Amino acid sequence: MKSISGGPVLVVGGYGAVGTAVTERLGEWFPGRVLPGGRDGARARSLGGVRVDTADPDHFRRLLDAEGVAAVVLCVEPPDEGIARACLERGVHVVDVGATPRRLDAVEGLHDVAAGAGASAVLSVGVAPGLTNLLAHRAHSAVGGAARLDVTVLLGSGARHGADAVRWTVAGLAEPAAAGARRTALPGYGVRAAHPFPFSDQHTLRRTLGIPEATTRLCLDSRVLTGLLFALRRTGALRAAGRPALAGLLTEAFGRVHLGGDGFALRADAHRGAAHAALALTGREQSTVTGLVAAYATRELLTAGLPAGVHHLEQLPQLADLPERLAGDGVRVWTRRREPARRRAAG
Ligand SMILES: NC(=O)c1ccc[n+]([C@@H]2O[C@H](COP(=O)([O-])OP(=O)(O)OC[C@H]3O[C@@H](n4cnc5c(N)ncnc54)[C@H](OP(=O)(O)O)[C@@H]3O)[C@@H](O)[C@H]2O)c1
Repeated sequence: MKSISGGPVLVVGGYGAVGTAVTERLGEWFPGRVLPGGRDGARARSLGGVRVDTADPDHFRRLLDAEGVAAVVLCVEPPDEGIARACLERGVHVVDVGATPRRLDAVEGLHDVAAGAGASAVLSVGVAPGLTNLLAHRAHSAVGGAARLDVTVLLGSGARHGADAVRWTVAGLAEPAAAGARRTALPGYGVRAAHPFPFSDQHTLRRTLGIPEATTRLCLDSRVLTGLLFALRRTGALRAAGRPALAGLLTEAFGRVHLGGDGFALRADAHRGAAHAALALTGREQSTVTGLVAAYATRELLTAGLPAGVHHLEQLPQLADLPERLAGDGVRVWTRRREPARRRAAG
């Protein structure tokens, strides 16, 4: 087994939509130290990487040991926490762009395993979850602890989303809505109706920030597509997306539709009594920005070091300024804070 100190960074899914951005940015920062991986061995090797399949944990463990991997960036969502466990119990750091609440909860449960081995895992990495968690944290702090949080995510329907991300979105559409739609102003997009969607941030933020009520909603930049999609969900027809054949058809259809642009917008509204704080963020190409967030988290792990254990992005003050660090990549933060009327009058 090679020593992992100074070892390579394995980017699983390293030539996908998110993974390509991770591989390229880490390659600039750590030349010769990045191993992009995927199930297509020839493609991975052509990029200087290795074949890896998260569905084959024995091979995955052997690969970690043989290469002396220092950190793994997961740019594809494994079925459970097994892959993260294999890394953390060996002292290999993990950065995970996954967005499925049940699996993220299970990885969170590996905190003691990670702490015992001196490894760190960073979860909620990306745009949503990820930058939404950081905006939510700021809005929450601005009102002195939110009683209610509303997160809104607008995605560009013209952007080239990866197949895995589209599959995840279609699966989310099959889940029944837990709250009502909400109309929200988003910089550059006007007032939009957004609909509850099962992003993981709304679940983890209740725990990490102690917010009693949190809902994340989704809309697309195309009003027509947003209306169509969520009208269909209301009829219950999209529950059929849970069936593999129909899910495949829907995934293919959504992957081919490019009606809008490639921009995205996020907004977090925190409420506490009459106090309200809102922050928004805009950018382009959510897959690329997700990869850049993962690259920054990985760099922090390898250079400054992060506390051992499993953490969500908003729990790491070292990464709180990520939205500003991404300014050079087209990310812009917008702030709006409304104080309660009584306090304004008194001031
Ligand atoms: N947090 C966020 O904001 C955020 C945003 C966007 C996406 N995501 C998540 O990021 C993940 C990737 O999305 P994407 O848009 O980059 O998808 P993508 O373009 O389809 O990329 C997935 C990559 O993973 C590889 N892969 C698939 N199954 C694999 C397996 N079993 N073992 C190893 N590699 C495997 C694929 O290559 P092969 O098929 O050749 O193996 C491909 O390179 C998804 O889970 C998505 O939900 C999160």
